Amino acid sequence: MPPADVTTGELAVVRPRADEDLPALVEVLAQVHERDRYPIMRSNVRAGWLTEPDGPAWVAERDGVVVGQVALQHGADPVSATALGVDPAEALTLSRFFVAPAARGSGAARALLDTVEAYARGAGRSLALEAVGHSVAARALYAARGWTPLGSYEARWFGDDGPAFDAYRFVLPLQPAEPAVGP
Ligand SMILES: CC(C)(COP(=O)(O)OP(=O)(O)OC[C@H]1O[C@@H](n2cnc3c(N)ncnc32)[C@H](O)[C@@H]1OP(=O)(O)O)[C@@H](O)C(=O)NCCC(=O)NCCS
Repeated sequence: MPPADVTTGELAVVRPRADEDLPALVEVLAQVHERDRYPIMRSNVRAGWLTEPDGPAWVAERDGVVVGQVALQHGADPVSATALGVDPAEALTLSRFFVAPAARGSGAARALLDTVEAYARGAGRSLALEAVGHSVAARALYAARGWTPLGSYEARWFGDDGPAFDAYRFVLPLQPAEPAVGP
């Protein structure tokens, strides 16, 4: 039996992130940056980038080795919040989500998203996220899980003189289950 608050994927276990996980996560992030340009900037391959979101974070482990993470930021951008029909402060934004190249296809990402979505549902908060155009697998994964695509816009995250990226917004409306109404 897994302990409480642990979700099992086919081969992955998800649990809350601990500070001790950060060195291993930074190593995984370096591999993900090399392979997938995530994060876009090499300078963001660091623990501080992983811990920037102010909400809870979880890691996926396989055979006791940390292979990925997902985090939540309180609040959402106004476009996503409008689509969700909520105040921006009431939503949560999914962030810092990745799985080690060697652990892909094992359900680790699915287990991480199961955990985040269950947390948001339990908190009565809807979810939003942004993915760049070249994050093809991630965008396919969100769509396959029923997230609603809101289209893309040209993001200038690195200033007017920096590179532009197509950023795709997705939202997932999540309301807590209604209590059963008696006859
Ligand atoms: C997105 C990512 C986390 C998926 O990790 P993963 O461990 O391979 O995912 P899973 O094994 O849980 O696969 C779940 C589903 O993702 C989708 N998927 C995964 N890789 C895919 C690919 N290359 N193309 C299309 N769909 C893909 C499939 O729907 C798959 O379901 P299936 O196994 O039933 O076909 C991983 O590719 C990654 O870390 N990418 C780089 C970082 C990134 O882009 N993060 C998102 C930022 S918004």
